[in-house]
Amino acid sequence: MTKDTSNQMWGGRFAAGPDAIMEAINASIGFDQRMAAQDIAGSRAHAAMLAATGIVTDSDAEAMREGLLTVLSEIETGKFEFSTALEDIHMNVEARLKEIIGEPAGRLHTGRSRNDQVATDFKLWVRDQIDAAISGVEALIRALLAQAEAGADWVMPGFTHLQTAQPVTWGHHMMAYVEMFGRDKSRFEDARKRMNESPLGAAALAGTSFPIDRHMTAEALGFDRPAANSLDAVSDRDFALEFLAAASICAMHLSRFAEELVIWSSAQFRFVTLSDRFSTGSSIMPQKKNPDAAELIRAKIGRIFGANTALLMVMKGLPLAYSKDMQEDKEQVFDAADNLMLALAAMEGMVKDMSANRESLEAAAGSGFSTATDLADWLVRALNMPFRDAHHVTGTLVAMAESRGCDLPDLSLEDMTSVHGAITEDVFGVLGVHNSVASRTSYGGTSPVRVLEQVARWKEAL
Ligand code: ARG
Repeated sequence: MTKDTSNQMWGGRFAAGPDAIMEAINASIGFDQRMAAQDIAGSRAHAAMLAATGIVTDSDAEAMREGLLTVLSEIETGKFEFSTALEDIHMNVEARLKEIIGEPAGRLHTGRSRNDQVATDFKLWVRDQIDAAISGVEALIRALLAQAEAGADWVMPGFTHLQTAQPVTWGHHMMAYVEMFGRDKSRFEDARKRMNESPLGAAALAGTSFPIDRHMTAEALGFDRPAANSLDAVSDRDFALEFLAAASICAMHLSRFAEELVIWSSAQFRFVTLSDRFSTGSSIMPQKKNPDAAELIRAKIGRIFGANTALLMVMKGLPLAYSKDMQEDKEQVFDAADNLMLALAAMEGMVKDMSANRESLEAAAGSGFSTATDLADWLVRALNMPFRDAHHVTGTLVAMAESRGCDLPDLSLEDMTSVHGAITEDVFGVLGVHNSVASRTSYGGTSPVRVLEQVARWKEAL
């Protein structure tokens, strides 16, 4: 091969171009073209700074600015021809800039390297995704608040071990997810604050001898400050990992809720009806309405966890500073982000559209001896019985009801007094599910008053 085949961006010391296999394993343009807008924003900030510091002339910087805008519009309109030989988005953009503006394009790379460039681009991309995740979570929280407010006093069974435990309110159950997604939102916000330092100007790894102004580029790109150590700046991928970690926890919450929706929408439960818009039918069984969106949300967590693990594995043994391993950081994050946004939007849609079946919820709330704890508490309060004794008496009454195939409120006063002589008619007042939930007024408890207070607090907070 002749020297002509070597890479036009770094081929000075190469006599021949890369083997086809080398090109295939080396190129990232197939995926990093998703960072084109960020790459051009970074280059524009860098070009403006080069002029402000006198490193390039104003007219060169102006040519760069205009040329970069042209490149951006070519990419946005699909006219741009990406080249694998040019490896990545950074060199594709720069090579096209050279075709458009000529010599000044060659001055753009002064005082920077692809190492700080890719770190900057990727950080800007991840930052956008964090913002999108925050909006997505907020929209879901709003949908949950509407459900909670409408059904603040609807009763349903609360479960532990998926066994009926005590009656709770629909609103309380919805608000449990509001708390979970609220923590997700704050995790994304927290990650955003910590990541918001600019790598640009760290150059290859050691900084540069040109009198660049990193504060200026940091500010232009919406960063709070430049990253303080150039070695760290080019080799840090914590920001992507923190995004994936927060995304994983959020996806885990989505998956738990999805699982509940799958159970609740079954014929055996009938707690909720999902809308036609978020269900599918079966090609063979005409009666079927399947909760596919919930199932897919439940499954998508696998990709997001996988991305988190994969990037940790890529990073874990790398010496400072940049290594080409780090090119493997992007695809997983892109996929995780895409699927997180999709899952959040699908969950929001399902929650907005779904209707709770109050009758089924209420019937289920009263079954399974769900007010047994209320009975035990009544024995403590009305008869001053130690709780352990009350627990035993109640257990005996539950066994009696079970053997008769009835619920606790169906036992007679005689049945009750046969187990403990001091029990009075008043006990029946606590065996109803509405009284049960209304009585749980402790802070954070399930009573409708407490639920509505939390709804109000969250509406205020958003
Ligand atoms: N495409 C590369 C990546 O994604 C850009 C940085 C390349 N730097 C280098 N020194 N080869 O990581």
